[in-house]
Amino acid sequence: MGHTRFAVLSLIAIALAACAQVALASPPDAAPSVSGAAPRAAIVVASLTVSAGGVTRTFTSAELLARSDAAIVAVARDPAYSGRATSYRAVALRALLAQLPADAADTFEMRATDGFVAQLPSQLLTGAATPWIAVEDPAQPWPPLPGQKASAGPFFLIWENAERAGISPEQWPYALASMTAVASPVQRWPALAVDASMPADAPARRGQAVFMANCLACHRMAGNGEGAVGPDLLRPMPATRYFTEVGLRALIRNPAAVRKWPQQMMPAFDASAISETDIDALIAYLRVMTARAAP
Ligand code: HEC
Repeated sequence: MGHTRFAVLSLIAIALAACAQVALASPPDAAPSVSGAAPRAAIVVASLTVSAGGVTRTFTSAELLARSDAAIVAVARDPAYSGRATSYRAVALRALLAQLPADAADTFEMRATDGFVAQLPSQLLTGAATPWIAVEDPAQPWPPLPGQKASAGPFFLIWENAERAGISPEQWPYALASMTAVASPVQRWPALAVDASMPADAPARRGQAVFMANCLACHRMAGNGEGAVGPDLLRPMPATRYFTEVGLRALIRNPAAVRKWPQQMMPAFDASAISETDIDALIAYLRVMTARAAP
């Protein structure tokens, strides 16, 4: 499970280029090698940018790997690697955040190098599940993600006791480049919120939360959002207009059960990720958004 995203290798290369330059091993005046034009070995250093409380800090993988509080964290069911058991060298995210000023914003925008941009409620970071930043050692790279060329590195948000806080597979962003304290999605994009008059127990209101935790990282709605992996679900035509309800349900459970091709990227969501009730709620929410966008 998890987001089977397609890593954009060139973007990673661009993101790393600035750091890679300062980390080039040979000095500019190095003597030419015997073979004449042998390429110089570049040590690629990745960095993670964290912004909160008006301060931005950049942590390199070398710096994080060398920290005395780095630990080996075991993951029983890793969403990035088909639910396999994995383990990572990782740094406690709470310790990293303690190096920045507190921020009143209630969300962290977790931006990956491939267009995946999760909006993570800050309260999850201090809740019953413990967040860690897994750090890929360039000298011992992680295996490629299933069906892809790139690994989950250079940084990967992993959770200890994820089930205690109901962390969704889409709240494990891999290929992480930055995390930034931001206002909540409904403050930034009021068009994504159901009407204030809607009862607290209305399915569409629950569906809004399901959408934000599981879909918004990849899909925008009428331009609202930051994700750029999948299509906009409202524009030009709302998805609930051209999908039957049966088709939409089947697609959310398992896109490959509806249509299948080699470069398919949308992940499947089994009942442990999104319950039947939550799919009902999600569809109610998409219908509310559709009625509003194109009455
Ligand atoms: C990791 C990224 C990702 C996540 C998370 C994701 N999707 Fe998708 N989705 C895609 C991509 C990419 C496509 C285009 C088809 C493909 O490559 O699988 C797609 C296609 C779709 C489509 C079909 C649109 C069309 O016109 O063909 C619908 C509907 C949809 N997604 C709904 C959802 C919903 C609802 C959720 C949340 C439960 C969700 N998606 C979560 C990436 C994602």
